[in-house]
Amino acid sequence: MNNTIILFASSRRNGNTGKLTDRIAKELGVEIVDLGKLQLSPFDYDHKNRGDDFEPLMDRVFEYNNIIFASPIYWYSVAPAMKIFIDRISDYLDLPDLLEKGRLLRGKKGYVICTCISDLPDEPFINAFKNTFEYLGMEFGGYINANCIDDYKESSCESDIQSFLRRF
Ligand SMILES: Cc1cc2nc3c(=O)[nH]c(=O)nc-3n(C[C@H](O)[C@H](O)[C@H](O)COP(=O)(O)O)c2cc1C
Repeated sequence: MNNTIILFASSRRNGNTGKLTDRIAKELGVEIVDLGKLQLSPFDYDHKNRGDDFEPLMDRVFEYNNIIFASPIYWYSVAPAMKIFIDRISDYLDLPDLLEKGRLLRGKKGYVICTCISDLPDEPFINAFKNTFEYLGMEFGGYINANCIDDYKESSCESDIQSFLRRF
């Protein structure tokens, strides 16, 4: 349980994804890192953004075996802060002094919390995570999606929440 960290991104902290993420975090007793609150610059080929909050954040992430990525689906993709975070993982593949640390992601389990306006999340959204985890040598642990067409209603997600929690 305590071996889990949640990385959260949404254009509103207390919206649909925030509410579902809060519930999961409470049940698992784990920390939520709001990526939007950190100073994370977009990927830079020249790596002139070293010194922002990304590497200290990754040092924390490396300590956990389970990494939950929480984001709403915006146009078949993730919220902007999550996209920046995922892009920046490339630093650990590009920069010689980060390569060894980057290999620490291998064997970790990645999970997804998402909300959208359908019962099933768009395939490109989930596949992007599956493919990213596979590329990084991580295992896909599963996902939970809440259909928020009428906003987030915890009662209608209860059985999915319980199934998701059983994965930990
Ligand atoms: C900019 C934007 C793009 C969206 N794109 C999609 C989409 O591609 N597929 C979908 O099912 N829902 C889409 N939605 C609906 C959101 O995924 C849904 O309302 C979600 O619960 C919002 O979570 P939030 O409160 O954390 O922002 C979109 C919403 C917004 C604001």
